[in-house]
Amino acid sequence: MNKALRKPFIAGNWKMNKTPSDAVALVGELKPAIGRQTEVAVAVCPPFTALDRLGKLLEGTTIALGAQNMHPEVSGAFTGEVSAPMLRELFVSYVILGHSERRTLFGEQDAFINQKVLKALSANLKPILCVGETLAERDAGKTLAVVETQLTAALKDVPEASLENIVVAYEPVWAIGTGKVATTQQAQEVHAFIRAQLANLFSQAAADKVRILYGGSMKPSNAAELLAQPDIDGGLIGGASLKAAEFVALVDAAIKG
Ligand code: PGA
Repeated sequence: MNKALRKPFIAGNWKMNKTPSDAVALVGELKPAIGRQTEVAVAVCPPFTALDRLGKLLEGTTIALGAQNMHPEVSGAFTGEVSAPMLRELFVSYVILGHSERRTLFGEQDAFINQKVLKALSANLKPILCVGETLAERDAGKTLAVVETQLTAALKDVPEASLENIVVAYEPVWAIGTGKVATTQQAQEVHAFIRAQLANLFSQAAADKVRILYGGSMKPSNAAELLAQPDIDGGLIGGASLKAAEFVALVDAAIKG
């Protein structure tokens, strides 16, 4: 399928950065620069504490709001957690699920991530599902096997008609926040593999519609080359999403790409 039929997507994962007022300031810089363009889908994913304010600020712009995590239950005794209906009420439309920091630092397992994916879809939130291997797994030649296991488990019981509401992010753990970016060949190989897996699990037609983002030290200087690859449809951006000029440059690269 012609890549041009998948609208590129640039999402900023702010992680545990920016107080609510810092977040308002950053969005104040982003809005005039990229708040009206329609060539690239854009989302920012601030901490939970900034979602309410940013939801109001982003209304009427083309910048969507995303959350960084979500609990699969709707409500209950889950101290510290936030549910899908809580996010929906704040105009959140995307939710990052299965980020490697959640997996490694907070012990999230594939089955739990699958519950979140199913709940997000039923609540009309679009999951940005993260998969990726550690350096040890890459060195052991297990990259594709790891990605296949994560993908298959996270998408269990997802109906084919819902697949177009899912964005997959390939994030090699060794490239996240390290300044080490995967080579275009390494990234494209895994992206093509993910699309082939999606075709196996669902259908080629459904797989062709899914946007697969690259994440891991993506920045304006390396974005063009990555975004030019046939199966790289955008980026999930950590560090470079915290500075307006860099994030805007990444959106520009995706427009050109
Ligand atoms: P990075 O983070 O761009 O800072 O490497 C990406 C991510 O973890 O989503």
